[in-house]
Amino acid sequence: MNRKMQQAAVLAQKELAPGVFDLWIRVSDDVVEAAGPGQFVSLYSKEASRLLPRPISICEINTDLGALRLVYRVAGEGTKEFSGYKAGDSVRILGPLGNGYDVSSEKKALLIGGGIGIPPMLELAKQLTAEEKIAVLGYANEHTFLLDDIKKRAKVYVATDDGSVGTHGTVIDAIKEQNIEAEIIYACGPTPMLRAVKAYAKEHGIECWLSLEERMACGVGACLGCVCETTEVDEHSQVHNRRVCKDGPVFRAEDVEL
Ligand code: FES
Repeated sequence: MNRKMQQAAVLAQKELAPGVFDLWIRVSDDVVEAAGPGQFVSLYSKEASRLLPRPISICEINTDLGALRLVYRVAGEGTKEFSGYKAGDSVRILGPLGNGYDVSSEKKALLIGGGIGIPPMLELAKQLTAEEKIAVLGYANEHTFLLDDIKKRAKVYVATDDGSVGTHGTVIDAIKEQNIEAEIIYACGPTPMLRAVKAYAKEHGIECWLSLEERMACGVGACLGCVCETTEVDEHSQVHNRRVCKDGPVFRAEDVEL
């Protein structure tokens, strides 16, 4: 696997929405070249007591700058520490990690992102070869981070839990309300959303790929905190289990139990 531990330079950071941060880091050229949508990098805390790194999905790849954009939510001490980093600081990272989305399909694409599952949809929208790309993004409220960036790459519909923007309800409600049709679905978000997307895709006979990244903990195969149930038996361990961080985070919908 093309992955590498290195000190990355922080280029910039800002808060996009309450508790949601937008971090650009400069990494080596081979890492930029190896990185793809749906993959992630693990960030290590400077605090020795926090040994496990924090996996953060890749939001955008800038080959000209040799930089990765990571958009993440502060969810504990590790991410709180990262949110304080400023241009000129450095952070130890390992990546790119995991299996991302295959971008070669030319089928009419529907990208579905929910909450902190939205960031990977930006690079995916950039790289997908399909001509027709529609994104449906689910937010809690009016803090529609990354909406303008994704609008430059796809036709976008929004759903919000509180009804402040777009459809009042879930991403599936928005898809039904707008009569959105697609031949392939790529989704990332919380488990209840992925479960609903999987059921929708099955009902309509649509090819569907899900990123289970919210299930990850250490991101490097060490904690087994990310194990998910699969329909196929693993050829090595002979069990119906896969590690999201190693075998995913992207899986074909029918291969995982949610
Ligand atoms: Fe720790 Fe996968 S997240 S083993």
